[in-house]
Amino acid sequence: MMIDTLKPLANAPENGSSDTSRTFTVLGIETSCDETAAAVVRGTGSGPGEILSNVIRSQVAEHAEFGGVVPEIAARAHIDILDGIVASAMRDADVRWENIDAVAATAGPGLIGGVIVGLLTARAIAAAANKPLVAVNHLEGHALTARLTDGLAFPYLLLLVSGGHTQFLMVNGVGDYRRIGTTIDDAIGEAFDKTAKLLGLSYPGGPAVEAAAKSGDASRFPLPRPMLDRAGVDMSFAGLKTAVRTAAYNSAPLSDQAVSDLCAAFQQAVADVVHEKSRRALDIFCEDHPGKPPVLVVAGGVAANSAIRERLTELARETGARLVAPPHALCTDNAAMIGWVGVERLRLGPVDDSRVGPRPRWPLDSRADALLGSGRKGAKA
Ligand code: KG4
Ligand code: ZN
Repeated sequence: MMIDTLKPLANAPENGSSDTSRTFTVLGIETSCDETAAAVVRGTGSGPGEILSNVIRSQVAEHAEFGGVVPEIAARAHIDILDGIVASAMRDADVRWENIDAVAATAGPGLIGGVIVGLLTARAIAAAANKPLVAVNHLEGHALTARLTDGLAFPYLLLLVSGGHTQFLMVNGVGDYRRIGTTIDDAIGEAFDKTAKLLGLSYPGGPAVEAAAKSGDASRFPLPRPMLDRAGVDMSFAGLKTAVRTAAYNSAPLSDQAVSDLCAAFQQAVADVVHEKSRRALDIFCEDHPGKPPVLVVAGGVAANSAIRERLTELARETGARLVAPPHALCTDNAAMIGWVGVERLRLGPVDDSRVGPRPRWPLDSRADALLGSGRKGAKA
């Protein structure tokens, strides 16, 4: 398998414009973690796209007893069901292969076994149907979802919060992303998952912590707001998770109410940090894009969290920025966002990614990662 260098994959046309005069229909495939997904999306004009089908099979049941995703089990499950999921997506969309303009698949970042299954399946389908293959950065899928759902124009500020990433990015165009801040340790989703695990809640942790927090008193356990005393928009969540561990240890054995109170306190601490850091990131956006209306997009699995959404809604009210938060089902991993990147890439000109290999680590802004000497969060997206 040919593996190319980690350059961005935007196929920008010479005049830099995007062809919105044509309609593009793309089959998307997503297998980078524990969801096996396929979808058909269509882009017409410059407005929102159309999701013709969106099939997702979560592997939560397969991984639950291990308290987290087991890469080998995930890869095997993708192999077992991906063909059927693709067939369902094509059937639900009621389109024929001749109506499809390209096959797009996640090529990274993510768990290597799953990425290989999805990318090779997509390559085989593309070859058999004589269609171009688009190798998609999973993070780009999250980054451009707001254009699929809301037809949002560039530029905008993106807060990407998932199981493996917590970043602020300036989204200036397709393939043009500048990271201005990141977590220096755990991603927010990772902190939710680890907090859930140490409190004995089910996997995946984010929704479990949110559910428990609903009946909790956030003021019972005072927790820190990490990095708020430091300038800039970088974040840190490992210390917060440790503070939860210490509080849990000191109150053991934990009643159900104590678990709920700890979840509420943790969630509120995270939401406070996100609120303040997002305010600062919006200031940077306004400095960088004078005269442009400030727009904040929140994407990734953690964007499904209602407490975080509420604080960001407050921030939008306070600052006059527009907040765009895609529907929950399009915040967590799905193939519609991958197909949509395919549409966006086709609009820029012909694509042929048939020689692109899987990329377990693939930062959206490789310059920022080079500066940090990192890219350390490659396992999940
Ligand atoms: O984007 P995503 O579906 O998968 C990748 O990591 O790419 O994000 C999954 C992460 C997990 O850590 C999960 O616990 C978290 O998103 N998550 C949530 C919620 N729903 C999912 N975190 C907090 N609250 C939620 N409601
Ligand atoms: Zn994701």
